[in-house]
Amino acid sequence: MNTQVGIVGGGPAGLMLSHLLHLKGIDSVVLESRTREEVEGTIRAGVLEQNTVDLMVDTGLGDRVKREGLTHHGIELRFGGRGHRIDFDELTNGRAVTVYPQHEVLKDLIARRLEDDGDIRFGVSDVQVHDHTSDNPKITYLDADGNEQTLTCALVAGCDGSRTSTRGLIPGTTVRTDHFRQYPFAWFGILAEAPPSSEELIYANHPRGFALISTRTPEVQRHYLQVDPDDSVDNWSDDRIWSELHARVDGEGAEIKDGKIFQKSILQFRSFVCEPMQHGNLFLAGDAAHTVPPTGAKGMNLAIADVYFLSKAMAEYFATRNRAGLEGYTDSVLPRVWRTQHFSWWMSSMLHRLPDETGFGHKRQVAELDMVTRSVAGRTLIAENYVGTPLG
Ligand code: DHB
Repeated sequence: MNTQVGIVGGGPAGLMLSHLLHLKGIDSVVLESRTREEVEGTIRAGVLEQNTVDLMVDTGLGDRVKREGLTHHGIELRFGGRGHRIDFDELTNGRAVTVYPQHEVLKDLIARRLEDDGDIRFGVSDVQVHDHTSDNPKITYLDADGNEQTLTCALVAGCDGSRTSTRGLIPGTTVRTDHFRQYPFAWFGILAEAPPSSEELIYANHPRGFALISTRTPEVQRHYLQVDPDDSVDNWSDDRIWSELHARVDGEGAEIKDGKIFQKSILQFRSFVCEPMQHGNLFLAGDAAHTVPPTGAKGMNLAIADVYFLSKAMAEYFATRNRAGLEGYTDSVLPRVWRTQHFSWWMSSMLHRLPDETGFGHKRQVAELDMVTRSVAGRTLIAENYVGTPLG
């Protein structure tokens, strides 16, 4: 056997799994199709739950996130032209989120794995898992030079994102159920050199559509606008973007600060869950098993929660050869997956304009936001889920 755990995919799930396994004395090899530069340069969401930050700190990855991450103690929900603060300190007993982009987490994980002599193989292609229901799974692939390679292992982790090749190994007709939902909107995301428009993130419901005011650093801001799923970046001049952001967000207590836009992209909205997340000695984690819509920034946090539990089950197996934890993996993580799926769907459905809706739909949404934000119970529900319910 070349390694104990073969990990397909070097995103947050794969790299964190490799790191957590290493701390438990278990060997792994990570196979990643992108180059290190691509992995470290891909812009994704930027909000870490308290759990994710705690796990990073507890496992020796906390230096930079503690130094450079921006701790946020609340968010603003904006509707009817007014802001309504969700105060995490008061509602969750001091838990918070940290704005720290996903690719910075990946840089920290890669640096740490390499310091610990971890084995990450970038730029591989044609990765294929074989015999995952046997005791001797193997993974064949072409290395970065195009040479055929074979990796033998005891367990395989499918951490290869939403375009996964590993999910398909769980037989679709007899074993696997896929739950899928599409949404009639997308997000137009920008990065801009500008001062922060707000100290905290603003989620705005507006008759023209949703807008999100986020940040990256004191000099770089990240904002999103709801658009049609088939819209294109080319339709949006900088002027149009800023005027739409002003129209949807400005009002009592808020005024967007313009700047120089240097990145534009469109993000699609989907909900997806595959059940079960295990078949034989193959275990799926992160987007390979589930996708959440971006409202609430849960995707990476959910991937990290998966591998936190998966690493424990794998460690128990290697220590005792007892498969109970491995066989219980799906049941240990699915309730959180579905709660997160619900939260991301709920936030999306409260905040976005639905294309086929009449005035009734918008009024009903505003009433829901009003009901939730006026009630301590309602605000607590949002706060607890936004900062992340404890992994424990
Ligand atoms: C960001 C993304 C999100 O999906 C979200 O809910 C909040 C912030 C971001 O990229 O900053």
